[in-house]
Amino acid sequence: DNMVENLKDKINRLKKEKNAVILAHYYQRPEIQDIADVVGDSYFLSKYAQECKEEVIVFCGVLFMAESAKILSPEKTVLLPVYDAGCPMADMADYEDIKEFVKDYPEAAVVAYINSSTEVKTLCDVCVTSSSAEKIIRNLPQEDIVFLPDRNLGGYLAEKIPEKNFILWDGFCITHEKVDADSIVQIKQQLSDAKVLVHPECPKPVRDLADYIGSTSGIIDFATKSDAADFVIVTEEGIMHELKTKNPEKNFYVPGKTMTCINMKKITLEDVCESLEKMKYPITLDEEVRLNAFKSLENMHKLSR
Ligand code: 13P
Ligand code: SF4
Repeated sequence: DNMVENLKDKINRLKKEKNAVILAHYYQRPEIQDIADVVGDSYFLSKYAQECKEEVIVFCGVLFMAESAKILSPEKTVLLPVYDAGCPMADMADYEDIKEFVKDYPEAAVVAYINSSTEVKTLCDVCVTSSSAEKIIRNLPQEDIVFLPDRNLGGYLAEKIPEKNFILWDGFCITHEKVDADSIVQIKQQLSDAKVLVHPECPKPVRDLADYIGSTSGIIDFATKSDAADFVIVTEEGIMHELKTKNPEKNFYVPGKTMTCINMKKITLEDVCESLEKMKYPITLDEEVRLNAFKSLENMHKLSR
């Protein structure tokens, strides 16, 4: 309607005025993905945020994503439109606890999923995302890998890279943890040719039913290139927007209840508009902490090349 159109016009005007770029993760609301200049998975967004020329980044995602952008580009103003859009998985790795934990494994490489706090990143050798983790870990010289915070992604990587010894922290994503494997089996009974596409944050019984396991952009690429007609999508529902836009002739099913990350859904068009208007909420980091966290993200980009 008219109000939404006015809001979009205002956002686009402010964006030019402030020399800003709007980045959105695939789990964001459809209208946020539509207004964004770039939509991507967490690896792509992190790289884009570092390389883009704009002075202001409006990061439509969660706190660790906006903080990662700031760690890599301290000269830019990075805005998170809703200050309390956090990631419960990242919160499962407390700085003091991790500091104690890693002391027991002095020989190991400490690998942090990018879904972690800036403070925790200072304790790590390298960061990974779901789309870059396998390559990066294979490239590490160490045999022992402390992986945190996601026990599911960590378990998946341990299976893929059996020559390394994984020590896992016990965190998980509350959105992906709840998937019911039986409901996938039920869909497959009716649609035997359907391809099951699963995010590696899912638990092992669910991963074991997958035809493909990968990041959000990996799942979108797989479905787009595939000749199959039916897909069971086992990740946060925001991904459906891009899947359906790119593949209007294909059918997408969800197992059981819709998977929604409430934190990813907090940002509305109004928030994006206010964010640009009032420069809300700028990410600020202690410079020493930032520099220590920088190394792990810089290594991620180096080792994934
Ligand atoms: P990817 O976009 O890297 O697959 O990340 C998934 C996720 O849970 C982000 O919070
Ligand atoms: Fe965190 Fe899971 Fe939400 Fe991603 S989907 S932001 S991992 S809680």
